[in-house]
Amino acid sequence: MAKVYVFDHPLIQHKLTYIRDKATGTKEFRELVDEVATLMAFEITRDMPLEETEIDTPVSRTKSKILAGKKMGIIPILRAGIGMVDGILKLIPAAKVGHIGLYRDPETLKPIEYYVKLPSDVEERDFIVVDPMLATGGSAVEAINSLKKRGGKHIKFMCLVAAPEGVKALQEAHPDVDIYIAALDEKLNDHGYIVPGLGDAGDRLFGTK
Ligand code: URA
Repeated sequence: MAKVYVFDHPLIQHKLTYIRDKATGTKEFRELVDEVATLMAFEITRDMPLEETEIDTPVSRTKSKILAGKKMGIIPILRAGIGMVDGILKLIPAAKVGHIGLYRDPETLKPIEYYVKLPSDVEERDFIVVDPMLATGGSAVEAINSLKKRGGKHIKFMCLVAAPEGVKALQEAHPDVDIYIAALDEKLNDHGYIVPGLGDAGDRLFGTK
């Protein structure tokens, strides 16, 4: 079963409070999401493999650690996932960025894929699929289906706020995909919004309505 990690670092929790606050405007919201994405990237990369190298410091020769060069990919789910990409790239600048776009079929309410563009070497990369909100879990499950269908194997899912319903759906559909969140909220309301949540993440990021 997939593990769920809640990042309760004080800086993440502090910034998340302002992200949630409806008085926070678009510019600040965007900056805060970017900052939290960087902080979450710091935590999510804890298990990156290291290897030993030898260097000369000004004082002596020494063995020291560097990243083993594992190739990474970041996949934002369009459109709100885009708001987290730059923040992650600050820490893993060599990562490739793919995109997965989904819309909800008005009749079946199921997410339908309308855009997929992934790095060509999908099978060699470790992926972080990102979306600020994990609500019903429908989009996350479908985006990861898309990625797996094209060869993606090592996948993590990262979001700011999750509902218990979304966590359960994602765990059931993808027991191999660990979930990294900044907060686990109470529930979904009748309109599919997370409560207390932060509203519509895409609209708040891009200033639309
Ligand atoms: N998507 C959002 O942007 N907000 C929610 O609360 C749920 C889904």
